Amino acid sequence: MEEKVLNPDIEVPLTEVEEEGFRHLNNPADGIKPIVKKYLGSPSGVEQSGNKFYFTDGEAKVEVVVVTPEIIRVRVAPHGVFLEEFSYAVPKLETKKVKFDLHEDIAEFRISTESINCHISKKDFFISFSDQELRITSMDAVPMHWEENTQFGGYYVFGTKVCHPQETFFGLGDKATELNLRGKRFKNWNTDAYSFAWNQDPLYRTIPFYISVNEGVAHGIFFDNTFKSQFDFGAEDKTKTSFWADGGELQYYYIHGPHMMDVVKRYHILTGTHPMPPLWALGYHQCRWSYYPESKVRAVTKGFRDKKIPCDGIYLDIDYMDGYRCFTWNRKYFPDPRKMIKELSDQGFKTVVIIDPGIRVDDNYAIFKEGKDKKYFCRRSDDYFMEGHVWPGRCQFPDFTNPDVREWWGGLFDELVDIGVAGVWNDMNEPAVFGAGTFPDDVRHQYDGHRGSHRKAHNVYGMQMVRSTYDGLRKLMKNKRPFTITRAGYSGLQRYASVWTGDNVASWEHMKLGNIQCQRLSMSGVPFCGTDIGGFSGEPDGELFTRWIQLGTFTPFMRSHSAGDTKEREPWSFGEPYTTINRKFIELRYRLLPYLYSTFWEHHRYGFPILRPVVMQEQDVQSNHFRQDEFTYGDKILICPVLDPGIARRTVYLPKGDWYNFWNSELVEGGKEVMVETPLDIIPIFVKAGSVIPEYPVQQYVGEKEIEEVKLNVYYSDYEVNSFYFEDYGETFAYEQDIYLEKKFIVNGDAGQMTISQSLEGLYTPRYENYHFSVTGLPFKPSNILVDNKWFTNFTYRNDKLEFRFTKNFKHIKIMK
Ligand code: GLC
Repeated sequence: MEEKVLNPDIEVPLTEVEEEGFRHLNNPADGIKPIVKKYLGSPSGVEQSGNKFYFTDGEAKVEVVVVTPEIIRVRVAPHGVFLEEFSYAVPKLETKKVKFDLHEDIAEFRISTESINCHISKKDFFISFSDQELRITSMDAVPMHWEENTQFGGYYVFGTKVCHPQETFFGLGDKATELNLRGKRFKNWNTDAYSFAWNQDPLYRTIPFYISVNEGVAHGIFFDNTFKSQFDFGAEDKTKTSFWADGGELQYYYIHGPHMMDVVKRYHILTGTHPMPPLWALGYHQCRWSYYPESKVRAVTKGFRDKKIPCDGIYLDIDYMDGYRCFTWNRKYFPDPRKMIKELSDQGFKTVVIIDPGIRVDDNYAIFKEGKDKKYFCRRSDDYFMEGHVWPGRCQFPDFTNPDVREWWGGLFDELVDIGVAGVWNDMNEPAVFGAGTFPDDVRHQYDGHRGSHRKAHNVYGMQMVRSTYDGLRKLMKNKRPFTITRAGYSGLQRYASVWTGDNVASWEHMKLGNIQCQRLSMSGVPFCGTDIGGFSGEPDGELFTRWIQLGTFTPFMRSHSAGDTKEREPWSFGEPYTTINRKFIELRYRLLPYLYSTFWEHHRYGFPILRPVVMQEQDVQSNHFRQDEFTYGDKILICPVLDPGIARRTVYLPKGDWYNFWNSELVEGGKEVMVETPLDIIPIFVKAGSVIPEYPVQQYVGEKEIEEVKLNVYYSDYEVNSFYFEDYGETFAYEQDIYLEKKFIVNGDAGQMTISQSLEGLYTPRYENYHFSVTGLPFKPSNILVDNKWFTNFTYRNDKLEFRFTKNFKHIKIMK
């Protein structure tokens, strides 16, 4: 018989309060109870404390908090006692000074801000929201309700809203299904989903936030609950939208639009935005399970430079470690990692290494010993350590919900940082366990002092792991921006990491799915996302790989990755014509880097998503609610990937306004579908009229060349259009001290003239002196240019393109007939 000594250091078992997050569970000694759903009764009065309002039906209490003029939080305490304020998603509930008032009449209480109203019905406690014109945007279909201490032993909380006939739904993160979620139901329980199928659910991440659009008006619901949660968008009952969870509080934020973009921006006010990534991380990344030994890594990186295909990131998957032990090196494969990483770095490659949460049980392994001595590994409810098998064999797992553990883990990256590692890839952090899938429910977590079982902590485990990674790297790298990538996460993960969509398959269907998943992640608050280009498992042919590289050129994170049992998967692996086309698109990625970087800034500073499905451009056109192929990359460039084999042309929908075909500068009027030729080296790309798109020269890696001038591609329009251009050092946190330059361009024109003006904000000074203007679409032959009130003659006009160079400090340019 095996003997295990109980660990003496867990002081007391979790109480029910900590376990389930509630203070009101019935005494189990009362015996098995039938399932009883309890609904809120009628509210009997209101108490106010600052921006918080409390209503009660005699026993249950409802709290309504005015967070901003457009965000209101609602939560329910069935027995009158609320949980302490704590959320991994919303680190600080910033309630700015908001003006609001309370109104009471026979039928309702109404809390009004300058933008919205929250109505609490006196009859039945229904809660609804309306806009300034008192148009109802969201309304309870039944009062908020819950089940407690049922024979299933659980605790369930439910919210149910009216689902309107035309209402459509978007969001929820990485779900593997159509963009519009109407008519479907989903579960959030982070899951390692190798080779997932269309409609498979749940997947790797939990983002319990959706956007609804009804009659042209959008609102969002963020159900901030980390337990297993579920959503039903009119699937079981066409007239109802429900969300519920297996524990925790019924707590949600109503986020007003009226535009979908407003909802996403406001969701970011709550959960934060992605920090600025190092510029190199927006370049191309090459990954494989695994590149080893060192000679293989060197052959691959040499291949990029020899073949002149740009690349910045090179990845080491699990085989770089000694027996898959985190923070070790396999010295047979990598005898001198410092030297290798240094030499790769001299050639412009940034090395990214994988780290998994499973720590091999091995007393001769320092990390295990230390974690064990410090009591940092997760325990079961009977106090035994949580053990499970992953790549290294028998493992224990750090409790990343403990701040001390996060601090310790973050510090373990010191050697890797010291030898030059530039980024860390966090995998298997759902957490994944072979056989069992994940941890048993009874595993205990510290949960930042709000202790709870794995039922409460499962969905945040991965996010807390990558948080510890990011925070650790940030300290160790001093003023340099770390690059991190995670597979699992919860709302708010964007404050710490980029994501990839996990173990996809080399198929056309999966590329389609990846296109939707990235758009969906982007509108769900996870902007820096990408797929394993080419598909992780299985073999793409040259055509599929090339079409995927073309799509990947326009996903914020661009990385090829493949499983170990597949054939070579570098951009040149399929021969010609594929290599040349792959190079052309990766070069395009590098040319558009300043545009992507500016778009990232718009996300970071203002909360805009990077990828925007066309419904976000034109939500008042109902047919757009069902489009999912085309999207805009930032605000100005519309992309429509080719998602089927052998396609020589395809239709693309262009939202209203004027668009230029990127490849031939042809002007096309939007508001309709157009047919576009799509030979293998072309995917439809359109640029909004009036845009200013900054462009870099092609580089083999970020920083290869001193940028001597920036090309500004200006597209004529006869209405006013604004563009952003953001510049800074690209690798430090100086932007947090306002050391950046945010430029705003305004383009306008009419039949006889065109103007371009520039305004600047911030303290950064780029080193280049000049812009190279390239103006497309002028409806007249230019004969005079006036720059800052001086005549300027040094320009050319050939093939309908006006070209000239001028100092970057110009304020106003007038181009005349
Ligand atoms: C998981 C990851 C995959 C990685 C592999 C080996 O399957 O999702 O990207 O290559 O583990 O580490």
